[in-house]
Order: sequence, then C-alpha cells, then structure tokens
Amino acid sequence: MAEKKKLRSQEWFGSKGMHGVIHRAWLKNQGYPHDLFDGRPVIGICNTWSETTPCNGHFREIAEWVKRGVWEAGGFPLEFPVMSLGETMLRPTAMLFRNLASMDVEESIRGNPLDGVVLLMGCDKTTPSLLMGAASVDLPTIGLSGGPMLKGYYKNQPLGSGTSVWQMSEDVRAGKMSDEEFLAAESGMSRSKGHCMTMGTASTMASMVEALGMGLPGNAAIPAVDSRRYTQAQLTGRRIVQMVHDDLRMSQILTRKAFENAVRTNAAIGGSTNAVVHLLALAARIGVEFNLKDWDDLGSHVSCLVNLQPSGKHLMEDFYYAGGLPVVLKELAAKKLLHEDALTVNGKTIGENVKNAECWNREVIHTYDRPFKPEAGIAVLKGNLAPNGAVIKPSAGTPSLFKHRGRAVVFENIEDFNARIGDESLDVDETCVLVLKNCGPKGYPGMPEVGNMALPPKVLRKGITDMVRISDARMSGTAYGTVVLHASPESAAGGPLALVENGDMIELDVAARKLHLEVDDAILAERRKAWTPPPGPARGYVKLYVDHVMGAEKGADLDFLVGKSGSKVARDSH
Ligand code: FES
Repeated sequence: MAEKKKLRSQEWFGSKGMHGVIHRAWLKNQGYPHDLFDGRPVIGICNTWSETTPCNGHFREIAEWVKRGVWEAGGFPLEFPVMSLGETMLRPTAMLFRNLASMDVEESIRGNPLDGVVLLMGCDKTTPSLLMGAASVDLPTIGLSGGPMLKGYYKNQPLGSGTSVWQMSEDVRAGKMSDEEFLAAESGMSRSKGHCMTMGTASTMASMVEALGMGLPGNAAIPAVDSRRYTQAQLTGRRIVQMVHDDLRMSQILTRKAFENAVRTNAAIGGSTNAVVHLLALAARIGVEFNLKDWDDLGSHVSCLVNLQPSGKHLMEDFYYAGGLPVVLKELAAKKLLHEDALTVNGKTIGENVKNAECWNREVIHTYDRPFKPEAGIAVLKGNLAPNGAVIKPSAGTPSLFKHRGRAVVFENIEDFNARIGDESLDVDETCVLVLKNCGPKGYPGMPEVGNMALPPKVLRKGITDMVRISDARMSGTAYGTVVLHASPESAAGGPLALVENGDMIELDVAARKLHLEVDDAILAERRKAWTPPPGPARGYVKLYVDHVMGAEKGADLDFLVGKSGSKVARDSH
C-alpha cells in the first residue's frame, strides 16, 4: 500500500514535542478530540460573513453545511474570518480594499495549519479578493458562492437589485415617480438572503468561478435560500477533502484555457465590466499570461445568450430555473467557444460537467444560433484618450450611440459632477459627451463605480435615456448605458483624460475600437505643462494603495502582490 502523504497541517500538529502540544492544546479548548490531529486533511473555511456585508449575511449557516461535508469525507474543518467588503456600505468604495482583503486572505491561509480551503464568497469584491489571495498561496481550493437573492417585486412587477434603483431614481428625477413610491419599492427589492440578483458583478463573478472551473457545477445561479445551495455547500465540503488527497491545486485549474473560457462566458451572460479588472488581477497572481487585449480578441465577438438585467429583462432566479450557467457553457461548447478539456475542481473537465445540461426556458437562455444580442462581449477601445485602453459593454449600451462625435462636458471629480449635473444652466444636451476625471485607482482613490453618471435632468425630461459617458472609473455590474470605463492611464496619473477641456470634440467608434480626442498634440502638450497631479494621501493603507496600485489594464492590483509565494511559511518561530 502506498505510504500516506504527510500533509502540510502535520507541520503544526504532527510533532510530539512541545510545539506540537502547543498547536493541539489550544485548539482542544473547542472540544476537539485528539484523533482529529492524526494527519487527516485540515480544511480552512475562509468566511466573508459580516453583518455589514448584507449579501454575505447568511454565510455562517452556509459554513455549517460545508463543515458537514468535510466531516463526512474524513476531514477536519476550521472556519476563519477575513475582511469582508460590503458593496453598499463600505466607504469610500469597496474596491479600495479588494487588494487589502486579498492580503488578509493570503496570509491567513499560509500562516495557518491548512491543507485545503473553501472560499465563501458573495458580494462583489469578496469573490476576487478571496480568489486572488488564495491564488498567491496555491493550495487545493474550491470557491463557493452564497447565491443570489430571490427576485424583487413592487406592484407585481419584478425589481432587480441595482438596475431597478438606477431606473427608478431616473424616473424620480424626471418627475415620473414619487418619493413615496420609491420608498415603497425599496422594501420589495431585497426579499431574501443573498447577493444582487441581477447579472451584476456578484452574479458575474459567481459565474466566473464556475466557468473558471473553481466551483462545482451550479455554483453561479442557485438562489441563496434554495435548499440546493446548502446541498452545494455540503458537496463542496466533501469534495475539498478529496482534492487535498489528490493534491489538486488552484494552479492546475486556473490555466490559460480557464481564463479564455471565462472571458467568453462573460460575453455570453452579458457579464459585468468589473470582471475585466478582477480576472486580469487573478491571472497575474496565479502566473497566467492574460491581458486586456485578450478580452476583446476572445470575447467581443461572442454573443450574449442570457436575457438578464441589466442587459435584458429577467433575474438570476429565472436563470437558475431555466438551467443556469451549464446551459450557457454547453451552447458555447457546441460552437467550439469553450475549451472543453479544461479541468475543474470536481476532477472532471468542464465539457464533461455540462454535456447533459438542459434548458427549460429559451426566453431566458437563448441558443447560440438565435442569441439574445449578437457580438455583445466587452470591447476594448484605444486612441489618444486612452492609450492603454478603455472598456465598454455594448450589450448594456445604445447601438445608435456606438458611433458618436460630441462636445465634451467635463467634470474634474465626482464632487464637481454631483454639484453641477442637476444645474439647469449647465451647457449640455443629449449630443454631448460627459467626461469625468480623477475617479481611477489612484484618483479617487479606489476606482469607484461612478462611471454610469446620471444624466442631466433637462435631458431626462426630453425622454432621453442614454448619453455617451467617459471616465477612468468603474461602473456597477447592475448599471447600463453607453459608458466608456477604465480609461487608462487614469487622469490622476497624468493620462490624457486629465487634459480634456469643456468644448473639446470626442469621437467614439465602438466598431473601430476608437476613442479619440480631437485636439492637436501641440495643444495637449501645452495643457500637460500646466497640469499638476492631485495631492496624495498622507498615511495608512490608502497611501500604500496609491503608491503601489497599477492601472486598470493590469487589474488594479498592488505591484508587489503580483505572483504567488506558495504555501511554505518563510520562517517558523515554533
Ligand atoms: Fe452585494 Fe450587490 S451589493 S452583491
């Protein structure tokens, strides 16, 4: 019989001397019997539960089901908390702390006696921060999403998280909805535990987890309160124990093929632009060559199959009942748009996982031959306004604006925008291009979701619902519009966006991937001489962030976090 491999956790628990006693004795204060330290896999359950992260508020319950599975399979589960990023609560923006949380995750995993990890993820930034941190350690790892909320309802009409808020707030500003009605709708939107139930960033990233092969099939769409979400948690617990026995590590799953699958899947689900920065950062952590151009080359011509808000009409609950992500992946596989041989955490290939998927509602998940929106993946724009690139999500925009030339109406920062956008004397009409500066990673700092700038009330009153908008910011995955985002280099780093002035003409041509500022180079050079960078923060994490954050085209990670250090602890004081 082959000798049982000594697991990493035995470096803590396997010693007979004083140090082994110390490691075991203190854990025994929780009532664990001695035989649990006999060399069985120790599974960390990395939990982003927090009452300040409402989307992850049910995660202690989910963790209990993971533990059931771990116990059943002969493992020893140890749950631990990490920094949790609540999108709707955390100021100034949750994205500022994604990299900080990833550092917490990385060091918590490496520094503890763990052989494998289950990542409990839900609200937008909790998914990338956990994946990124875990990737830099590279233990056997499974991602488990907490699941979306049930559909919202108001006056018998479905309400989508985020998307309906943007729509209703524009209705209020245009005088079509009263404040009282808005308030009443608020209570009908978030009807259950779970994260946003539109195809916003949380559901996009849960889909990315499944498409990357990092989660069990079904991870993306099972509602948070459906009993099958708990079954999924239990199965995840069982499976991670076997992954430790097989030494199936994250780097064997997160290959170039996995990222290519994820990009195409993002297009097919009408996924969030935030996936761009998160997957770029994740690939750089695990060591896969993958860049912004890949997003366009691989995904922009892929059609959107899923009729979900914000690109469409339905919600995640409908998506699950229609068959969920496996149906989308099967459609992509049939068109050779999926690397079917990519390995997933259940030990099977993604092709094997989805080959028997069935669709139960073609109104929600279209076939590839009759897509919901053709060629709808994220497009990467270039030009003198964004030499390092900018992104646009055509499936959420207005096709008639995809080729547009307009006069710039410039806002120096988000405070300037908020102060003036409602001003009736603002010189703006629907043909103008709204330009927002200083909202990139360094500029805000933290690259907030403000790129989908609200339209001026006087434009809204005409019944206009979209205008071209350009910034170095991000946009909520639940938002929509002809919005150019992530312009890089960002304005606070001296990118050309910083040099735009009111009245400049800007040309957007999505088909030609062009974003052009019609100002002579000589004039831009003059403006550059007069430009000074905004003052940076004096201290603390924010200073570390601003000093080290890279551009959006590199995933906005901190430069010193790129790559992985593995699971070996550098020094051991015990
Ligand atoms: Fe948490 Fe949308 S606010 S997922």
